[in-house]
Amino acid sequence: MTSFKPVRKAVFPVAGLGTRFLPATKAVPKEMLTVVDKPVIQYAVEEARAAGIEHFIFVTGRNKSVIEDHFDIQVELEQTLRERGKAEALATLAEFLPGPGQTSFTRQQEPLGLGHAVWCARELVGDEPFALLLPDMVMQDVDGCLSSMVRLYERTGGNIIATEEVAWEETHKYGVVETGEAVDGGFQITGMVEKPPAGTAPSNLFINGRYILQPEIFAILSEHQKGAGGEIQITDAMARLMQIQKFYGYRFTGRTFDCGSKEGFVKANVAFAMWQPELADALRPEFEALIEQAE
Ligand code: G1P
Repeated sequence: MTSFKPVRKAVFPVAGLGTRFLPATKAVPKEMLTVVDKPVIQYAVEEARAAGIEHFIFVTGRNKSVIEDHFDIQVELEQTLRERGKAEALATLAEFLPGPGQTSFTRQQEPLGLGHAVWCARELVGDEPFALLLPDMVMQDVDGCLSSMVRLYERTGGNIIATEEVAWEETHKYGVVETGEAVDGGFQITGMVEKPPAGTAPSNLFINGRYILQPEIFAILSEHQKGAGGEIQITDAMARLMQIQKFYGYRFTGRTFDCGSKEGFVKANVAFAMWQPELADALRPEFEALIEQAE
């Protein structure tokens, strides 16, 4: 069996302003808003870690330094917890913390689009395949979305994009793929388009925010070609890379919450609360009462 270069690094674009969540995001980055008991960004980092990622690259912006603090040791806090014998809290902190030298931070100085944010990570990624996770998209599944993608990549190599079904009327909001022949665990991608105008989408499979990409994408991104919304789009760069490299789609079957929208954020909170048995027991009567009131 051919073995492909392993996916060791992951890029997390976290430079967005989060204007949809003002005033909550005035002083707190939107990636640090909590879904139940973890900041949004932590879900993506944990998903990456479960998939075997060893280096976590954050493309940040101004006022985002608290993200860097979150993924560092908090010496005083840990000391206090140790003194008070709070072993469980200490373990919770240690569980998700990347090791020394496993994180890198760079800045996207101007909001020129997702493709531009990814390009800002080019030196940190270097000449190897990498994962790209859009942290706004919080995934709920027993098996992480990226883990399943890595398994597909180990069979196919090339580039992998996670996709999901969406209502046809919603396709204009996302990147959408055109599907080709099935492969073991996925399908070949024969085309893709960013935010297709209503009625023109090649399928109703949208790009849900998880990618495995080959480093050749950076040469294309460095041309800074603008696309939908006047921004440098990762989808356009991938469509060009597809002319010389293979792209495969993975169909995610878990649940995805778009935590960049209030609706998705609240739904994620409810869904992840219901995943914790104790909270679920406490909340169920409350939800039932609310539904009854609304009927
Ligand atoms: C980005 C991508 C798009 C993808 C979406 C998922 O769009 O460009 O292809 O479908 O994320 O959330 P954005 O949400 O930044 O407009």
